[in-house]
Amino acid sequence: MGIRNGLTDYGDPEFAAYLRGAFASSMGFSEEALERPIVGITWTASDFNNCHRLAPELIEAVKRGVLMEGGLPMVFPTISLGEGFLNPTSMYFRNMLAMETEEMVKGQPMDAVVMVGGCDKTIPGQAMAALSADVPAVMLPVGPMMTGSFEGERLGACTDCRRYWGQYRAGGLSRERLSLVKQRLASTAGTCPVMGTASTMASIVETLGLALPGSATIPAVASDRLRIAEESGRRAAQLARDGGPSPRTFVTEASVRNALRMLLAISGSTNALIHLTAIARRAGVAIDLQRFNELSEETPVVVSLKPTGDGYMEDFHRAGGVRAVLRELEDRFDLDTPNIAGGRLRDHIDFSEEWRDHRVVRPVDDPVSPVGGLVALFGSLAPTGAILKRAAATPELFERTGRAIVFTSPEDLAERIDDPDLDVTADDFLVMQNGGPIASGMPEAGYLPIPKKLLAQGVTDMVRLSDARMSGTAYGTVVLHISPESAVGGPLSKVRTGDLIRLSVRDRRLDLLVDEEELARREPEVRLLARKSAFARMYRAEVMQAPDGCDFRSAVDDGAEACADGAGAG
Ligand code: FES
Ligand code: MG
Repeated sequence: MGIRNGLTDYGDPEFAAYLRGAFASSMGFSEEALERPIVGITWTASDFNNCHRLAPELIEAVKRGVLMEGGLPMVFPTISLGEGFLNPTSMYFRNMLAMETEEMVKGQPMDAVVMVGGCDKTIPGQAMAALSADVPAVMLPVGPMMTGSFEGERLGACTDCRRYWGQYRAGGLSRERLSLVKQRLASTAGTCPVMGTASTMASIVETLGLALPGSATIPAVASDRLRIAEESGRRAAQLARDGGPSPRTFVTEASVRNALRMLLAISGSTNALIHLTAIARRAGVAIDLQRFNELSEETPVVVSLKPTGDGYMEDFHRAGGVRAVLRELEDRFDLDTPNIAGGRLRDHIDFSEEWRDHRVVRPVDDPVSPVGGLVALFGSLAPTGAILKRAAATPELFERTGRAIVFTSPEDLAERIDDPDLDVTADDFLVMQNGGPIASGMPEAGYLPIPKKLLAQGVTDMVRLSDARMSGTAYGTVVLHISPESAVGGPLSKVRTGDLIRLSVRDRRLDLLVDEEELARREPEVRLLARKSAFARMYRAEVMQAPDGCDFRSAVDDGAEACADGAGAG
């Protein structure tokens, strides 16, 4: 415990502890301070990360909690991934964050760790690291933004960003007004205030039991956010003193099934399925997409937040947040799974009938949708799966055969989509290749824009297909994560403009209606990430496909090997 924790694997351990003590003394610590259990705290703030702007203040509150409980807080930096500022895409860096955090937790003397994160890829990467390091950990989301307003209308990044941008592209909004809206879309520190990836992942780690009850939804700027930070610090100091429990205690088949149900009930981000798969794999729990579809049939959407419904995270928080969902769907969840606060999930839920706000968290007999928000599709175009957020799509487009209009990459799409001569109608299927993990780091390019000339005709949705991701804040009939991806020669790489594709959401099918001989004659369309660096080469060699969570192959350890043996929650 304390400064002696994690003594070197080689040499004279007593001398190593003596040396370490000497250097710690140079930082002004007394002998007494160095006797205390150490709680590491991740510093993920950066001038390039608007979401983590208040992380430093939060960290002060965590430190206070650690000290109150007799621990010694030690803050250390890990990389900061601000969603809007990263090229080629933040997804390319998620596994780097996971690797770096895991190694720093293992490599430095700490008895427990508080992981302060929030922007889309941070909580996933940190949870992956926590499970691999398996040092006692408390996850602490930075919390969501508050909404802004424009001409009497509430605004939140970035579902409303897309709506206004769509109006602008269609010619219904001037540049000047668009620019005014821009200043109100993301009006405080914190993560996007809709049910995007950040909100979904915070809800998922709370459901898994890795974060304190309530921590997913408290607004970033609220005083309660600082109080839960203090409490997270206290709890981490207790874990440090008691030697656990550690993260793998919490991530089990039962808790992963709960997390999948939460994802479905909140109609969460499609990206969360990739992240949760990667997190679960690190604990040896596999997610099966066929089983995920069964769960989706039994789990209603009960949370009405954008982009599926109307509300924002502050409304969800006022209505009780994650615990209100667990309460309303009590019989769908296993509430006997543990929480890091101590006890079971059930112990932290108020079941009294006194006050329930059913505008945002609906009762089970009056849901937003009777079935879950997401489904997996399979077929000759997606042999190992594809994902559709059906709750944020257009049901009239669900049973269709369409002509493919193919773009060979995100760049090709950007060049040609608004070409007035593009031969395209609203009944066609827009198809994009080479947006997958190996091709391009899997950017959020799957939300293919409606061609300008169709927007001008009033078209608001079309069937769109790709191996890319889309932002959790986006909506439309957008089929994503087609696997295997184009860049590894998946069937998507063989689609040509004019081919017919059949989509049937009812049958969970996505089929390319081209015969085998013709496909065998075609060359796959393969384009690869242009970036040249040591990490880019490592990334290309290591990254797995979406159904395996896009984790690195080498992250497979004892836990993940169990996945291959068929242990499963999904
Ligand atoms: Fe950080 Fe949306 S930009 S959560
Ligand atoms: Mg996002």
